[in-house]
Amino acid sequence: MHIQQETIDKIQQSLNQKKILVVGDVMLDRYWFGEVNRISPEAPVPIARINETEDRPGGAANVARNIASLGGNVTLLSVVGDDEAATNLEKILVEDNVKFKLQRDKSIDTIVKLRVIARNQQLIRLDFEKIPSHEILLKILDSYEKIIEEFEVIILSDYGKGGLAHTSKMIEIAKKHNKQVLVDPKGSDYTKYIGATMITPNKTELKDATGNWNNEQELINNAIKLKNDLKLEYLLVTRSEEGMTLFTKNDTINYDTVAQEVFDVSGAGDTVIATLALMLANDIDISQAVQVANIAAGIVVGKLGTAAVSKEELLRHLE
Ligand SMILES: Nc1ncnc2c1ncn2[C@@H]1O[C@H](COP(=O)(O)OP(=O)(O)OP(=O)(O)O)[C@@H](O)[C@H]1O
Ligand SMILES: [Mg+2]
Repeated sequence: MHIQQETIDKIQQSLNQKKILVVGDVMLDRYWFGEVNRISPEAPVPIARINETEDRPGGAANVARNIASLGGNVTLLSVVGDDEAATNLEKILVEDNVKFKLQRDKSIDTIVKLRVIARNQQLIRLDFEKIPSHEILLKILDSYEKIIEEFEVIILSDYGKGGLAHTSKMIEIAKKHNKQVLVDPKGSDYTKYIGATMITPNKTELKDATGNWNNEQELINNAIKLKNDLKLEYLLVTRSEEGMTLFTKNDTINYDTVAQEVFDVSGAGDTVIATLALMLANDIDISQAVQVANIAAGIVVGKLGTAAVSKEELLRHLE
């Protein structure tokens, strides 16, 4: 197994001709850095004096950022609140070259995960999230159907936050338009993903869908059954330090991780689905696409924070 010259040539040429649409749960990862020097007189808690803040795109927005970082042409379709977090998220997406269509829903807050950090330690994480309204979700479905023809590959990035209420319908529409749909799944009922081209569960997500396994053969049996039940073309199980396993019509193929150093594994799954979509949109075959995605994941876990891989970095590692 190796990366073919043809794959490298395609990546080198240009990856921005074919358009990719990401639909799903967007989030804002927010970091407040501060100093703690005393305990509050009001309650036995530390007082953090904040001197630095940082916002990063999370969830489906991180998937989109990963595609743009690799030189892809990407549009993000989702719902946000009508608030300051949404405005900040849009600002970051512009800087990151991600196009977007974010429906503002006055009745919810943009999903924010706020971490307060002092002396390199997380003091607390505060999550802001509400389920989007029915009307806004219908509006998104409507936009989806209107714009889908422009895109080559669709990613549904499900973080279980309610932004993907119309998953089955979206897959059905994509198929009607002959588009490939890749799904990063969540939850225990995977019937909503029936007919997708491919899903990319990690081990926990596979377990939630199929139940546990006691050995490798049982994992394989569970995965193959899931792939057949859901009528998928491919199933890719990402297995953290064990790499990944691809299930196709007739084959089961393992790919060892290529990570050399591991600093931060968060967001590796986003890098995997982003890279896969970009490869498939550019007519790179599935086995090569998975190998490139595995290499991209190996690079990203060596970086601090939810990071992304650039096209130049990827090419350096391919050669
Ligand atoms: N600890 C690790 N050591 C080596 N490689 C890793 C490690 N964790 C992740 N990877 C690489 O990243 C890929 C995706 O990771 P993983 O299976 O953990 O996805 P995930 O749980 O969806 O990640 P996340 O939800 O944090 O984005 C793996 O298939 C592997 O290539
Ligand atoms: Mg994941």
